Amino acid sequence: MNLPGKLIYGWKAIVVVIMATLAPVAPAMAQGETVCVQCHSTQSGRALKPVKPWQGSIHAENGISCHNCHGGDPKDAANAMNPERGFLGAPRETGIPAFCGRCHIGIKGDFITSAHGRALGQGGPTCVTCHGSHEIRKATLDLINEKSCTQCHSYDRARTIRQAMEQTENTLSSLAGRLESFKGQGVDTLPLEKRLFSQRNRYRSLFHEVDTVKVKDESAKIALELTALKTVLDKIDSEHRQRRIIGVFAVAATLLAALLLLLLRRTYSR
Ligand code: HEC
Ligand code: HEC
Ligand code: HEC
Ligand code: HEC
Ligand code: HEC
Repeated sequence: MNLPGKLIYGWKAIVVVIMATLAPVAPAMAQGETVCVQCHSTQSGRALKPVKPWQGSIHAENGISCHNCHGGDPKDAANAMNPERGFLGAPRETGIPAFCGRCHIGIKGDFITSAHGRALGQGGPTCVTCHGSHEIRKATLDLINEKSCTQCHSYDRARTIRQAMEQTENTLSSLAGRLESFKGQGVDTLPLEKRLFSQRNRYRSLFHEVDTVKVKDESAKIALELTALKTVLDKIDSEHRQRRIIGVFAVAATLLAALLLLLLRRTYSR
């Protein structure tokens, strides 16, 4: 991907954070404090059902509550679900990408132009087909699995995507672990972390276009960048090893000198 591409993805990540900050109620507000959660917790059936799954979700963890997705007034029980207070209700199937995409702008864009987005309302999946709606967790490659991806077509293309991405993810996490171990050893890790982070973002933005050719091409390019980064880490490692050997020699030499000095003193003081 070219530089503008990288910038756009960095930018998209920032937008998610800003949207979350601008959300009507500050994320610091404790769970359970909105009238939405309060009242829905005392309901039954379909009104109660979302509460528990949401409580265990990555959205609850990040302060994204019912009203952040559904709109409405989280402080006024009598008017909470009034459209005049911005209440949106539950989205219809075709409205879901836009509903989630208010915050996940970049992903919405990739999804809409993909084969999946083009089949929206005609048998294609929406965001909630793969992620769920209230029980949403941190996204991992486990979301690409035979059970989920063969609901509508065969698994072969999904497998290709998963395999390419898995390899990159393994390299990314191994390099991240090595970088972490350099901390506190006098290495300026910041520029290296930036390099790793930008490849990670590039990798994380690969999936939603479901373009097998692009996933393979981009994964190969990312692999090249990561190999270059690994070479830098290997060099630092070997420098450290040399320094440790030199250190051992220096200590040994100092001890030897001290011993000689001691012997000399004894010789002269006799
Ligand atoms: C005083 C109780 C109460 C409060 C406060 C409340 N709700 Fe509800 N809500 C309900 C009940 C009951 C239903 C189910 C109505 C039905 O089954 O038709 C419902 C339905 C919904 C639905 C489904 C609507 C649809 O289109 O099918 C959503 C979404 C929703 N509430 C979100 C919210 C949000 C967001 C808030 C806060 C801004 C909120 N509710 C506040 C009681 C409440
Ligand atoms: C991340 C966004 C998001 C959050 C947060 C969220 N919802 Fe929803 N909700 C959705 C989506 C999308 C749908 C429609 C798709 C579906 O039903 O799976 C939905 C559907 C619903 C429905 C209709 C369910 C049905 O069976 O018809 C109710 C009721 C509801 N939400 C209430 C809530 C309540 C109460 C909370 C807070 C405890 C909440 N939602 C938090 C996205 C969200
Ligand atoms: C009001 C803003 C908002 C809306 C609307 C919203 N999200 Fe989120 N979402 C967030 C924030 C904030 C996070 C946590 C920070 C992050 O990981 O980006 C998050 C995290 C996620 C994650 C985990 C990301 C990861 O790092 O693994 C997924 C998956 C996700 N959202 C999917 C959805 C889906 C699907 C919908 C619609 C049903 C939705 N979101 C609606 C703000 C929102
Ligand atoms: C066909 C299944 C599928 C659909 C449809 C889908 N996703 Fe995903 N999503 C995934 C998979 C798989 C990943 C994990 C990719 C990875 O590990 O890098 C993911 C990752 C994510 C992430 C985390 C990305 C990051 O940068 O950390 C978010 C947020 C997200 N999806 C939101 C959405 C939203 C919003 C939509 C709808 C516009 C959507 N997804 C549609 C399968 C899907
Ligand atoms: C709800 C149905 C549905 C589900 C679930 C689904 N897909 Fe698809 N997918 C489609 C449709 C429809 C198409 C377009 C027709 C085709 O190429 O088969 C498609 C096309 C694709 C393509 C080809 C894209 C292209 O540009 O040629 C890939 C790759 C793909 N899906 C991957 C996945 C993966 C991975 C999963 C699981 C995480 C998944 N799909 C789950 C409906 C679905």
